[in-house]
Amino acid sequence: MRRRFLFVLGSARAEGNTELLARAAAEQLPGDAEQRWLRLAEHPLPDFADLRHDSEHVRPTADSAAGLLLDATLAATDIVIASPLYWYSVSGLTKRYLDHWSGWLRIPGVDFRATLAGRTLWGIAALAHVEQSVAEPYIGTLNNSAAYMGMRFGGVLLGNGSAPGDVLKDTDALARAKTFFAQDAPLARFPYEASAG
Ligand SMILES: Cc1cc2nc3c(=O)[nH]c(=O)nc-3n(C[C@H](O)[C@H](O)[C@H](O)COP(=O)(O)O)c2cc1C
Repeated sequence: MRRRFLFVLGSARAEGNTELLARAAAEQLPGDAEQRWLRLAEHPLPDFADLRHDSEHVRPTADSAAGLLLDATLAATDIVIASPLYWYSVSGLTKRYLDHWSGWLRIPGVDFRATLAGRTLWGIAALAHVEQSVAEPYIGTLNNSAAYMGMRFGGVLLGNGSAPGDVLKDTDALARAKTFFAQDAPLARFPYEASAG
């Protein structure tokens, strides 16, 4: 199947380190792979309302931010969460997008989970901290979300930086970016599950 990558940019600023690192990784994608880039800040989602157990869910209209993001998510074979590390996890914009997945799971006729199952979730993050182990909550959030959805998980590409452009000095991160999307992406497992042998 032709790969269709959706880059979900979750920074609260444009052209920051996460986006630069994501573009470095995307440069290595084969030419026949489709790329779609969406900045969550430019498509503001409403506050997530938890109606899971109250009412019928309706599909958001295609001209709304939620409709655009839902359709783009359903169309992607590969969803790349490109969110900076904020408070050791994903940014608020990104978290809100993921919260909306909980509503989309309930829209009749959409089959959100069945559609995403077997597809791949990736993460790309810039962080100011030098020690990458502080990003474990972020990695866990994406790994467990992928496991919940029955998705594959390609891991998280991390790069160091604070001011925009800093990540271009992180030569290790730029080297990892070159092969990031070539990595094997196994089916995600929760930490308590035996890893696939
Ligand atoms: C709200 C906020 C929270 C942050 N939290 C962390 C953090 O927990 N750990 C860290 O290393 N850096 C943290 N940072 C620094 C950013 O990760 C860093 O500046 C990164 O380069 C921002 O990515 P961007 O350039 O793509 O916007 C935080 C920055 C902001 C604005």
